[in-house]
Amino acid sequence: MKIAGTGSVLPSKVVTNEMLSEFLDTSDEWIRTRTGVSSRHVISHEKLEDMAVEAAVKALEDAGIQASQLDFIICSNVVNEYVTPQLSCIIQGGIGASCPCIDINCACAGFIYALEMAESFYKAGRVQNVLVVCAEEPTRMTDWSDRRTCVLFGDGAGAAVLTPGDNIKSIRLSAASATDKLWQYRLLQPTPYIEKEEVEVPLQMKGQDVFKFAVKAAATDISRVLDDAGLRAGDVSHFLLHQANIRIIQAIRAYLEQPDSRFPVNIHDHGNSSSSSCPILLDECRRGGRFKKGDVVVMSAFGAGFVSGAVVFEW
Ligand code: UT7
Repeated sequence: MKIAGTGSVLPSKVVTNEMLSEFLDTSDEWIRTRTGVSSRHVISHEKLEDMAVEAAVKALEDAGIQASQLDFIICSNVVNEYVTPQLSCIIQGGIGASCPCIDINCACAGFIYALEMAESFYKAGRVQNVLVVCAEEPTRMTDWSDRRTCVLFGDGAGAAVLTPGDNIKSIRLSAASATDKLWQYRLLQPTPYIEKEEVEVPLQMKGQDVFKFAVKAAATDISRVLDDAGLRAGDVSHFLLHQANIRIIQAIRAYLEQPDSRFPVNIHDHGNSSSSSCPILLDECRRGGRFKKGDVVVMSAFGAGFVSGAVVFEW
């Protein structure tokens, strides 16, 4: 398969570090130096499903594909206002498609997991055109009085339309269960029969453990996809890494011994938008004219689970 079109949408509300320091014991200096984030887009009046539909429409227009030509929709999402139906079905209706669709929750690695699923459909000869949409509102998961988590995230939706091609050179996924590192509990409806204690807990994170996992997993995943493809890091024109923390990106860059210029970033004004982070960065790079035909691109992401993955493709 190949990536034939991309699209992305951000909420209109921009929240700066200064705005956060008005109600949190934090500072622009701390957030910028420890994370690389200066501001983030935060959902206010928007609905996530509308942003997902808009990103999908942009990607379809970019690819020159009609919604009726889609054979499958994969939506990566951690939370949204609906428990059911799945977001992919809402997107299907919103764009006027009629194909099967599925939601996946692979946290911030969702785009890479979706690409691997789609690639398997192509290899099985079952699809021509696939839509992947990542739509995330992690700002609705954090406690906004917890300075350790709420400063990190931003919301957004990113989409990609896939068509037949041989541009994907390798994809590798990994998972290593570590459920006490990054987690959230939600409260379900009570029933007359529930006898266990249940609590609602906003997003909790052991930041340094996640940091270490992220660097190790990305280094391993990227090395594996490059080996698979018979490439070296120096052959790669662009490394599109999950935008979680500029220091994580710099650590991966140092491991790969490649120049800063090959690592496009948008974390400074987006924050971490979970699985939307990779397709939004992809869309911004593409629309910004950064890619030339034949460029080798690596994408890598990691997230709660832990899960991680990397892909190498030719543009
Ligand atoms: O998509 C995956 C999602 N998560 C991640 O990728 C997160 C990975 N981890 C990280 O990015 C970093 O670990 C953080 C940015 C979360 C934290 O940075 P750190 O350098 O690991 O800081 P720390 O947790 O060791 O905290 C250092 C200090 C603490 O104070 P004390 O205990 O030393 O007095 C924190 O309470 O910084 C304090 N702190 C803050 N201070 C001001 C934590 N958050 C803030 C804040 N403002 N927002």
